[in-house]
Order: sequence, then C-alpha cells, then structure tokens
Amino acid sequence: MENQQKVKNLIDLRVQAKLGGGEKRIASQHAKGKFSARERIDMLLDEGSFEELDMFVTHRCNNFGLEKEKYLGDGVITGHGTIDGRTVFLYAQDFTVFGGSLSETMALKICKVMDMAMKMGCPVIGVNDSGGARIQEGVTSLAGYAEIFQRNIMASGVIPQISAIYGPCAGGAVYSPALTDFVLMTEDNSYMFVTGPKVVKSVTGEDISTEDLGGADVHAGKSGVSHFKVENEEEGMLLIRKLLTYLPQNNLEEPPLVETHDPIDRLEDSLNTIVPDNPNLPYDMKNVIHTIVDNGEFLEVHRNYARNIIVGFARFNGISTGIIANQPNFLAGVLDCDASRKAARFVRFCDAFNIPILTLVDVPGFLPGSGQEYAGIIIHGAKLMFAYGEATVPKVTVTLRKSYGGAHDVMSCKQLRGDFNYAWPTAEIAVMGAAGAIEVLEGRAINAITDPEEKAKYIAEKVAEYNEKFANPYQAASYGYIDDVIEPRNTRFRIIRAFQALQTKKVVNPLRKHCNIPL
Ligand code: HXC
Repeated sequence: MENQQKVKNLIDLRVQAKLGGGEKRIASQHAKGKFSARERIDMLLDEGSFEELDMFVTHRCNNFGLEKEKYLGDGVITGHGTIDGRTVFLYAQDFTVFGGSLSETMALKICKVMDMAMKMGCPVIGVNDSGGARIQEGVTSLAGYAEIFQRNIMASGVIPQISAIYGPCAGGAVYSPALTDFVLMTEDNSYMFVTGPKVVKSVTGEDISTEDLGGADVHAGKSGVSHFKVENEEEGMLLIRKLLTYLPQNNLEEPPLVETHDPIDRLEDSLNTIVPDNPNLPYDMKNVIHTIVDNGEFLEVHRNYARNIIVGFARFNGISTGIIANQPNFLAGVLDCDASRKAARFVRFCDAFNIPILTLVDVPGFLPGSGQEYAGIIIHGAKLMFAYGEATVPKVTVTLRKSYGGAHDVMSCKQLRGDFNYAWPTAEIAVMGAAGAIEVLEGRAINAITDPEEKAKYIAEKVAEYNEKFANPYQAASYGYIDDVIEPRNTRFRIIRAFQALQTKKVVNPLRKHCNIPL
C-alpha cells in the first residue's frame, strides 16, 4: 500500500471511529434527548482542546458471536483536554456501542486516563451512560469495574474526581461515581440504582418506577448520592466547568486565585438587622452568604438534600473558600443525621484540597427523638465533629445567633482547632436554650407553684434571668472561646482579614496509617 493510501486509510478509520455504534444509534440517542459521547466532550472542554486516546481499541470477546461485531473505541471515548486552560483527563461512555456497557478493554481505557490523571496531578471527569457490565463478557467486566474502583479509591483526596450521570448507571456501576467527589445527574434520562425496578419487584414485591427508585430527584433530594441536579446536559457541563474554578488541580496545589473588584471592606448595613429580635423566628442564611462573598457568587452543593445545612463554594478576596452554614429557614437549622453527613463530607473535601473553611453558625442543637437516635445521630454527628477536628486548612467561624450544646462544639468551635472564632452581638452561646434549661434547673420550684399565673410569671422571670446571663456571646468571649464580637455589617472584612492572616498556617496531624473516622 502506498503511503498516501495509508494516510487515507487512517482518515477513514477515524471517521469510522467517530461514528461509534453508527448513525442510527446516534439518532436514537438524540431522540431520547441525549447527546452523543463526543458531543458531550465538546460541550465540556475548551474548544478544540480534546486529545483522544485509544481510538483503535476494540473488544476481545468471542462469546455470543461478538467477534463479528466490533466498534473502534469500544464503548468509551477517553483522553484529555483543557477547561479554562487547565488540563483534565476524562472519559465518556458511548451508549451507541453495546449500550455503553463495560467490557474488559473499555475498563482498560478508563483506567489508563485515570492513571494519567494521577501521574500528572489533574482532575478526572467521567461521563456515565451505560447498561452496566457487558453481559457477553462475564467476569472480565466485573474485574474491569473493580480496577476502576481501586483507582477511584487511590485518587480520592489526591485529584478531584467528578461524575456526570447522563443515562443509566445501574448495578455495581454506581460505585465508581459514589467513590468520586461530586456526582451530578440530569433531571430526565439519568438514573442510578443497585438493582432496577424489576428485581425490586421480584425480591420485595415493591412496585416502583425507575424515576422514583433512582432518578435525579431521589438522589439529589433524598439519598444525597448526587450533589447536583441539572436540567439538561449543557447545564451539567457548565456546572462542572464552574465547579473546577474553585478547585486546585490536585492536593499539592492551591485553588486558583480569582481577581475581584468587590471591595474587601464593603460594609453591609442590612446584616445589622437580619437576625430577628424574636429568637424563634427564622431568616434565610443564604442572604447572609450572598451578601458577604465576592460578587455575591455562591456555588451551592447538595442544594436539595438536608436543607437545614448549607454547603458550597465561594470566594473571599479571590480565595476559594468552602462555606458550611446552618439554615434557620429550614427545620430551624437543627443538626440531624443527613445534615451532619452532608457537612462532614464537604469539610473533608475542602481539607483534602487546601480549601479554607468558613462556618456560619445558627444551630439550636441536635434533633432529638427516637427517629434520629435509631438512625445513628450519635455516629453521624461524630462524623462532622471528626471532620472539623482533623481539618488543618484555615478555619474561620462566625456565630450569628444560636450555638447550643453539643452542636456548638461540633460547628467548628475553638477547641476543635477553629482558628478565628467570631460572634455577632446577637449570638447565644450556651449549654441549651432558656426554656429547656429552666425546666431542668427550676423544675421542682415550678411544680410547687399551684397558681397558673404565678407559675407563668416565675418561669418568665427565670427565662429572662437565664437569657440575660447566657443568651449572648460575652460569656464565651470572656474565656477566649470567641476571639472577638464583631459588628455584623463588617463581617466580610473581618473574614477576609482572618483568612489573610491564615495564609501561612501550617498544622500537621500525627503520623498514622489512616484515621478511623466514625463511618
Ligand atoms: C451488552 C448491552 C447491555 C449490556 C445494553 N446493551 N445493555 N449489551 N451488555 N449490559 C445493548 C443492547 O443489547 C442494545 O444493543 C443497546 O445496548 C441499547 O440497549 P437498549 O436496551 O436497546 O436501550 P434502552 O431501551 O435505552 O435500555 C437501556 C437499558 C437496557 C435500560 C440499560 O439496555 C438494559 O436493561 N440493559 C441491561 C442492564 C443490565 O442488566 N446490565 C447488567 C447489570 S449487572 P443493540 O445492538 O440493539 O443496539 C452489572 C454488574 C456490574 O452491571 C457490577 C460491577 C461491580
């Protein structure tokens, strides 16, 4: 064959590879409202930056006549490219080839880019759209999954790992996304479950739809498996691009500094009155967050899950910061099992990737009751405490209002190595709220009063006395547990000053194989 012909052959092969499972199957993908794997990659990366690898890989299976059906690239497109000029490695499962099902060779392709991402210290992004293990291959497919899982585990805390679910993700396949840092799902067309509705029906008798079992609403709202729910694939790709702007390339780097024109000493008078006089009234903590961060920009993570706590990324004077904040607007901002788990995972992510942590506190305590106790609030609350206590990144805490009991300790208090702990004058830092405290301390005296009016008067007096003494930040400040009581409208400036002072912070935890966080 002449050289010119060889070149032409290569071009033909590339054209063939780019068609994946063929035009008909691509059209069927489009008909479902889904993009093809290549279109997805183009949407995600900087234009023209994609470098494909392993385009000529085909499967090696001879079962069920599969030797007669081979596609260049074999069900996944892999390679690297850039997002805002920073390198990422990625793979996108191609549903047009055997339903994106995982073969031995496909797993090898995915593992190759994961290994490269680790070697180069770059994020890895996986786009999932797959019928699971390639049934014709049997155990080699299972082994392939496990090879991927092992790499997910080794990469955890070293490079950011992001999973987009843009189609089916079922059976053991769910565990790769679950091992990564962030999962996002599209509103329609994506689902995740360990076993599908048919198996559920035959095993437990439960009749449930795909959507209700493992759709985006379920995982973004109920289970917390998914960190983000997006309307469509384009929105998902934009979200991944945005998310990466807050993250470093790996655990040895700092997140990028983004120049801001938002004045560091911007005063916000509205904050002086945002906390209602009545301690039982709620307010929206998100308004506080938007007011104090650079340009009001906040990327919320897990927006629909455990809404009593807010977590997400923002910047202070250009420095990427993880924010954890109780939300008085939902369940009074109480800490329960889900909120504790959600916040703990976020704190650990930030700590692993050198992202400073700001904690905004308004927490009435842990949610009491048998439901929470049976669900293990002790162990889940301990997770959050553990996460804060082991974190060595800069930690700034601002207590806006309530900070009671165990929840006070958990929410990045001074003794859990909070670096700068500030409080607003509206803060109430105490062992418990006045009503509960008076019931315990004055129970006998109260019961002895028979006249209801007198009883109410006595309780009111004692509550007022307790509030006077404890429902303020000054007792904690007198012990140095609170570093300063700050004027609310000055909060942004004080936070920025604190993080500036903490830029050279160095704390090293004791050497050990690994910690034993209460899981
Ligand atoms: C081989 C598969 C496949 C699979 C789909 N295909 N799943 N080929 N192995 N697992 C092929 C189909 O034969 C079809 O080929 C093409 O992909 C598209 O599939 P359709 O069924 O036509 O698509 P759709 O109607 O959209 O349904 C998608 C689906 C369904 C819901 C994913 O295909 C399905 O239920 N697949 C089987 C899922 C499954 O049970 N997988 C194994 C799970 S166990 P043609 O040639 O017609 O285009 C598992 C264990 C993992 O994954 C353990 C890891 C630890």
